[in-house]
Amino acid sequence: MGCATLGQGGGAAALRWGVVSSSLAETNAVPTTGPEVLSARLPRVDTGRLVADMVPPPRFDAVRFETYVPDERRPSQAEAVRRLRTFAAQTGSGNGSGSGERRRWFRREPRTPQGPTGVYLDGGYGVGKTHLLASLWHAAPAPRERKAFGTFVELTNLVGALGFQQAVTALSGHQLVCIDEFELDDPGDTVLVSTLLGRLADAGVRLAATSNTLPGKLGEGRFAAADFLREIQGLSARFASLRIDGDDYRHRGLPAAPAPYTDEQVTEAAHRTPGAALDDFAELTEHLAVVHPSRYGALCDGVHALFLRGVEQISDQATALRLVVLADRLYDREIPVMASGVPFDRLFTEEMLAGGYRKKYFRAVSRLTALARDAGRTAVAAG
Ligand SMILES: Nc1ncnc2c1ncn2[C@@H]1O[C@H](COP(=O)(O)OP(=O)(O)O)[C@@H](O)[C@H]1O
Ligand SMILES: [Mg+2]
Repeated sequence: MGCATLGQGGGAAALRWGVVSSSLAETNAVPTTGPEVLSARLPRVDTGRLVADMVPPPRFDAVRFETYVPDERRPSQAEAVRRLRTFAAQTGSGNGSGSGERRRWFRREPRTPQGPTGVYLDGGYGVGKTHLLASLWHAAPAPRERKAFGTFVELTNLVGALGFQQAVTALSGHQLVCIDEFELDDPGDTVLVSTLLGRLADAGVRLAATSNTLPGKLGEGRFAAADFLREIQGLSARFASLRIDGDDYRHRGLPAAPAPYTDEQVTEAAHRTPGAALDDFAELTEHLAVVHPSRYGALCDGVHALFLRGVEQISDQATALRLVVLADRLYDREIPVMASGVPFDRLFTEEMLAGGYRKKYFRAVSRLTALARDAGRTAVAAG
């Protein structure tokens, strides 16, 4: 809870001086009466935290194989759960200390080749790939600090922050590394991450990844497994690919996205919501340029709802891509967003939505719309 006094109408100029760290020491500050301002925060994150933070996001804290409801009309869903449970069971210490069950397993199958040490979940948008990947992470009987979960982008950020060799060192003692939304559209990053995974696989780390698929009609009938297996170079023999058919689970009975509010409504709601952050869109997008995207999660620490005034269509790609990362972090943390200005489906230009990064933009629109809907449903926007 930094910048306690800065939310009180100090204006943009005053905020520039409010250099804030996310350190807990600041919790002793004067109790906050007004909303926080994300544009006034400059989170510093130590590299140890970057690795320790690689766990499923809050939205997927409670998901388990048991809470995944396979669609009976889509046998590939139940089959995926079955194979992932087996994969999870094979992860872990294997130090022989265990139960009779484990011993029986050893007798039947004395540590011969274990089958593939990597698994790739391919499927359309919303079929539950992240749900299953997080369930795998939760189910794998390895100590928490020896399994990692992150998106492809978070992994590339980690390599950016630590350097390649240190990232290899930091992760090669792990028993399981889960990579959500493996991206194949940037050849440089794909090679970087594939090389990293090769090193980890050599060190005995089990790997699981999901495909990065496009929401809505644009993604129909597109499966990425062949591209993935080709692009990960020498690793393909180590990956089993699991295809999950189905429809977007989220489209069951969702109400339409709420229309934007007025600036006054947003400001008022921010002032009566505990844990609120209130930002002007233009200022926030400018601020995102000076915070490393790997810290956008930390930027949102302690924020329970975001209030955004004056959302505008974005005209440049760099700003747009930063907003995509922010949208992901907000979505991970289930932070509702109440906004004025243009609706989120007009955030990106037509040109962007037709270009090379369209997957990211569609995902961001879909996520921000879901968070706007959350804000509309909760007390946040009431009154
Ligand atoms: N079969 C299912 N049973 C229960 N919840 C599901 C199922 N499929 C998806 N969900 C839920 O729907 C939401 C979207 O699923 P997600 O795993 O994010 O999809 P994907 O990663 O494939 O796009 C999540 O909240 C997830 O928990
Ligand atoms: Mg997903």
